[in-house]
Amino acid sequence: MTKPSNDKAQASPTKQFFVSMLTRDITLADAILDLVDNCLDGALRLADGEAVDYGRYFVKISISADRFLIEDNCGGIPRDVAKNYAFKMGREPEDDRDSESETIGMYGVGMKRAIFKMGRNALVRTRNGEDTFEVPITSEWLDAKNWDPLPINEPTEASENLDEPGTTIHVSDLYEGVARHFANPAFVNEVATAISQHFTMFLQWGFKIELNDQRVAPVHVDVLVSPREDGPAPYVFRKTINDVTVSITVGLNTSRRAEGEDDDDADFSGQRDSATAGWTVLCNDRAVIVGDKSRLTGWGDLPLVPLYHPQFSVITGIIEFRSKDAKKLPVTTTKRALDTSSEIWLESLVKMKEGMRVWISYTNDWKNHPRSDQQSYWQDAQPFSLSRAIEAVASRTTVKKTNVSDASGHASEVVEFNPRKNNVLPKPEEKKPSSKKIVFSRPAEEVRLVSKMLFDDPDEKPGTIGDECFKIQLAKANTKKRGE
Ligand SMILES: Nc1ncnc2c1ncn2[C@@H]1O[C@H](COP(=O)(O)OP(=O)(O)O)[C@@H](O)[C@H]1O
Ligand SMILES: [Mg+2]
Repeated sequence: MTKPSNDKAQASPTKQFFVSMLTRDITLADAILDLVDNCLDGALRLADGEAVDYGRYFVKISISADRFLIEDNCGGIPRDVAKNYAFKMGREPEDDRDSESETIGMYGVGMKRAIFKMGRNALVRTRNGEDTFEVPITSEWLDAKNWDPLPINEPTEASENLDEPGTTIHVSDLYEGVARHFANPAFVNEVATAISQHFTMFLQWGFKIELNDQRVAPVHVDVLVSPREDGPAPYVFRKTINDVTVSITVGLNTSRRAEGEDDDDADFSGQRDSATAGWTVLCNDRAVIVGDKSRLTGWGDLPLVPLYHPQFSVITGIIEFRSKDAKKLPVTTTKRALDTSSEIWLESLVKMKEGMRVWISYTNDWKNHPRSDQQSYWQDAQPFSLSRAIEAVASRTTVKKTNVSDASGHASEVVEFNPRKNNVLPKPEEKKPSSKKIVFSRPAEEVRLVSKMLFDDPDEKPGTIGDECFKIQLAKANTKKRGE
């Protein structure tokens, strides 16, 4: 038995330890993206549940060897939020400000982490409504042993005001490595590319992001959809799992631009084509990954999906996770990597592979035929983003819609469309008479099992299943023959 004494053992973290741990696992570019996320969250909060008019908002980032500056007009930080939450390291459990909106901030570290990553002196100036104030984070505060609250200062001169509600964050006394990066044009380009990818949806909706006075253009990730009911269309799947809506489309990409779309006034142009082939993963409209061609997204998951190679550069898959509870999204805290062990990701991967199979078979079918033979079928197809593609396909009468309810009794609709099963994809002219016919029987249970694996549906037609099995083996044989 022990009894309490008057002595106490100190257990609070030192600032130095805290700051170095916090900033260790995030890259400099990702830290900057975190700051832009806050601006977008700000715009979303301003809209208060209504649709956001992103065309009204901007972010201007300026980086150089001696300082970092980010300015936005996204509503600013309300004083009580600044006093109680915004500058805390980590979110308070009672902070339920965003339970009704699809913001991405969740751990309450992004802004502080970005500042600490870059330098030893920072000034956050914000205007919310008519209320303007500043919060300095100084090297003296960083060096002090205690965790004193930060001062909130009022402006005394006109120059300390902001023209409109918004926030500016200025960081100086940059760390040496950071200063070197900021002075390097290659790093600036890297940040521009990261922005054009990660925020592509917002940029497409008119949100303006400038980096060192140059406008950043969105990268376009699209799939082709024919407006004809029987015309070629992408694979589509949508389901709500545990408060997260998963939307998937897999289709052919294109180098063509949709009409009326023009980013020519932008200086950092978004990439397209083969860079966006593979998988793009969106979480609450942020692209976490663009154009992934690795095991991560199912490529090379034999026997269903072969390794990525140039034959598949026409295939683009887009998957989106959307939730009002950002913690349920399968992303890591840096928001630019996937949490691939999450259940929702694993469940989605099954459908992603099903969609990939459609186009792997399609490109195999067409491999030895001139491209021009396909052209007429695709002529009227338009490049659509994920949401527009799903909308277009969901309006077809052949789309499969089922109502399901989950474990907690929430009802939702599952939307599914497989272009191969629906026979809307062009097929090359029938094989020469030198073809051979293969006929064989197998136990019904085994046929159902293989059908389930290949099509996630035990009841596919036996002929289709046999054909698919043969195609998978043939692709492997061809790969081997090519010596890959
Ligand atoms: N640019 C901004 N505009 C409006 N509010 C902001 C901005 N930057 C930060 N904030 C406020 O500061 C809070 C803390 O930001 P952050 O440290 O990134 O954590 P989180 O985004 O996870 O809440 C945000 O929740 C938000 O209320
Ligand atoms: Mg944040």
